[in-house]
Amino acid sequence: MAQTRRPLIAGNWKMNGLTSDGIERTRALIEKMAAKAQPFDLLICPPATLLAPVAAALNGSAVRLGAQDCHAKASGAHTGDISAAMLKDIGCSHVIVGHSERRADHHESDHAVHAKAVAAIEAGLTAIVCVGETEAQRDAGKTAEVVTSQVLGSVPARANHESLVIAYEPVWAIGTGKTPTAAEVQEVHALIRETLAGQIGEAEAAQTRILYGGSVNPKNAKELLGLPDVDGGLVGGASLKADDFWAVADASR
Ligand code: 13P
Repeated sequence: MAQTRRPLIAGNWKMNGLTSDGIERTRALIEKMAAKAQPFDLLICPPATLLAPVAAALNGSAVRLGAQDCHAKASGAHTGDISAAMLKDIGCSHVIVGHSERRADHHESDHAVHAKAVAAIEAGLTAIVCVGETEAQRDAGKTAEVVTSQVLGSVPARANHESLVIAYEPVWAIGTGKTPTAAEVQEVHALIRETLAGQIGEAEAAQTRILYGGSVNPKNAKELLGLPDVDGGLVGGASLKADDFWAVADASR
């Protein structure tokens, strides 16, 4: 079944990048992607300020554009927020929802993440729903319980393999250089797929891409992205250098 899932390599730039370096990085990736047909999808998720200029630079490229968050409502009095329809309008195909940094910094609950994912799907975007346990939860042996309940609480029942991507990002692995073992990653991904099957049906779950995120780099990418239930990566730090990001993508082939 795994061979039907095309790897997705997504770069989450987080709150990094001004116009000049963001466009430079984008151009470098466009060039690499244009050289020949690749067996993976490449997605970049710049900060909101760079979505318009990056969209303009990407014009016609196979590199896809995603945002890092959206509001649950389509429009209205929500100062500082951006709706999924606005993201779609500007050229985004994807939006990350429920990243652990938003769950922590902005107190986003599974309920709020679910509402954002619904809004994203309604606007025609693919929602990348993030889940993952903290170090304390892992130490307490609660990884399976936490991840299962986040998937059940955050994933809309009407999602399918085209409108949904899941990203498993253990919070303690983000930006730390630490990762779970390959066996641990595979175990959680298989559990996520099983949980998903109960929500959106077995056939859809079998085709839905589940990404691993947390300290993915050119050195560990081959092992992590080669696991049976890992269908790509959500890459933070290593996505800020075009060569490193490309090396991670290359490892998925
Ligand atoms: P790092 O790759 O920097 O650990 O970040 C992972 C992440 O949070 C991607 O969304």
